[in-house]
Amino acid sequence: MTEKLLIAGNWKMHKTPRQTVEYFEQFKPLVKGLESVEILICPPFIDIPAAVESVKGSPIKIGGQNCFYEKEGAFTGEISPVMLREAGCEYVILGHSERRHIFGESDEVINKKVVAALEEGLRVILCVGETLQERESGLTFTVIETQLKLGLSGVEDKLDKVDIAYEPVWAIGTGVAAKPEDAEEVHRFIYDKLRELNPQKAEKVRVLYGGSVKPSNAESLLSQPHIRGVLVGGASLKPDSFAQIAKIGDTLATSKG
Ligand code: PGA
Repeated sequence: MTEKLLIAGNWKMHKTPRQTVEYFEQFKPLVKGLESVEILICPPFIDIPAAVESVKGSPIKIGGQNCFYEKEGAFTGEISPVMLREAGCEYVILGHSERRHIFGESDEVINKKVVAALEEGLRVILCVGETLQERESGLTFTVIETQLKLGLSGVEDKLDKVDIAYEPVWAIGTGVAAKPEDAEEVHRFIYDKLRELNPQKAEKVRVLYGGSVKPSNAESLLSQPHIRGVLVGGASLKPDSFAQIAKIGDTLATSKG
């Protein structure tokens, strides 16, 4: 394993530009010197300039939480990958379960976004995950396989620019994370499927776990062999809890070598 663990924060619809500046003033000193993890924060669009300015001179990266698939045009309310890139983003999260379930995004739409974002040179974090009903009906692996295959259709040759976040919908924002061994089983399955898509590049993908990650469960999740990072919602909003998660990742990555 050569890639650094990816410790990513998804702020969702939280924080103003002023609160963004205050956050980084506290957060930056807390994660100074961590070299075995890559730290990414995805704030709301309006906070991106403040975030990019705040992290200048540090290794912290900034990403978007979504984008549209066209470069420009009459798409009221949308943001293009070109805009994200020029604003200083290196990553974009696509296919988050809230985009799928609240905003009705289909695998086809998500795939168009993935293609467009990669074309613009952004790294993509594609989110996949089953609902509680799907899990209880024994559909977890079918759902994940479909979301992966449709989401990555046509970009199989660019897997080295993609990371996947496995986020069981029932674990998001509920305080109840997946059991590490259950998450590990799905992560292993995701790597199997990625190898089918591109045997050369599958190992380059970091498959992150997301869903109620917090300082108290980060170690047990991140110490699973196929969990190569985390996507953190609620616990990324507080500088100290997100920094603790990053430190746990850094310690584990350093000891794994
Ligand atoms: P959570 O959200 O950590 O608040 O559960 C994770 C996510 O939705 O990315």
